[in-house]
Amino acid sequence: MRLWFISILFIKTICASPIPIVLWHGMGDTCCMSFSLGSFKIFLENQIPGVYVISLRIGNSTVEDFENGYFMNPNRQVDYVCKQLASDPKLSSGFNAIGFSQGCQFLRAVVQRCGDRLTIKNYISLGGQHQGVYGLPHCGALQHETCDYIRKLLNYAAYNSWVQSSLVQATYWHDPLNEDNYKQSSIFLAEINNEKSVNKTYIQNLNKLDNFVLVKFDNDTIVQPRETEWFGFYAPGQDKKMMTLQQSMLYKEDRLGLKKMDKAGKLKFLSTPGDHLHFSEEWFIKNIIKPYLTS
Ligand SMILES: *[C@@H]1O[C@H](CO)[C@@H](O)[C@H](O)[C@H]1NC(C)=O
Ligand SMILES: *[C@@H]1O[C@H](CO)[C@@H](O)[C@H](O)[C@H]1NC(C)=O
Ligand SMILES: *[C@@H]1O[C@H](CO)[C@@H](O)[C@H](O)[C@H]1NC(C)=O
Repeated sequence: MRLWFISILFIKTICASPIPIVLWHGMGDTCCMSFSLGSFKIFLENQIPGVYVISLRIGNSTVEDFENGYFMNPNRQVDYVCKQLASDPKLSSGFNAIGFSQGCQFLRAVVQRCGDRLTIKNYISLGGQHQGVYGLPHCGALQHETCDYIRKLLNYAAYNSWVQSSLVQATYWHDPLNEDNYKQSSIFLAEINNEKSVNKTYIQNLNKLDNFVLVKFDNDTIVQPRETEWFGFYAPGQDKKMMTLQQSMLYKEDRLGLKKMDKAGKLKFLSTPGDHLHFSEEWFIKNIIKPYLTS
């Protein structure tokens, strides 16, 4: 009788245990420092008692983690993370994933490339650069001529194959003045966006998500253009006029299956006032935790 009671209790605890969460930090940040993602992890653990949270560390130490955010080829980073997540028994029944800034496009690559080994339920992208960037931090908001000059200069270097394999940020540099060059030379972003060729596995794996939640920061001065956080970008051939995801060829040709996901109500476009990654705990609890991490 007693044993029976205990086993029922045991089963109940297992069933009720919250879905684990995986975090991938942004550039210039690390997995675990108390002033960065370390405190966010504690916040989640307080909000969702008993939840298992992993804040990904890319490398063998915090210093390596920081450096790898700039210098480790994202394709290798994604591979490293896939293996790490696939070998964690606590994640075998599935998990939710949250990306921060450049960690968003890397985590999306994990969803697309490792969907046969991982079960990812909801994927939350906080300020990700899904269509890349064309500009330097703080420069867009200044609307200064020098900014425009610098980004045109950077175009010469970013697509050099040596720079592509040595500087992470070059792999998602997206020059709207020369789309063909971007598609040919970007060793990461153009590939995961199915701009080079269409990989059907990517479409299938992305579509396995319950929800793909894209959060844009309305007053973002770091990411240029900020519309990239919703898969928007400059219309091809110029760098002033914006184009939404729905207006893009990526969507119209449905190269990545996003149109299908949008029609199925799986794409969620959220925005919040504030600069890059600045959100209040109240906002996060109401808009992310309640609908996607605990329901
Ligand atoms: C961790 O250390 C091992 C042994 O030194 C090294 O081979 C490996 O590349 C390191 N991992 C990363 C991701 O830097
Ligand atoms: C498509 O992506 C999957 C998962 O990363 C990979 O195994 C496969 O080789 C890719 N297919 C092509 C044609 O590149
Ligand atoms: C933030 O962005 C919103 C939406 O674009 C705008 O209405 C608001 O004025 C901006 N706030 C600040 C402080 O710039």
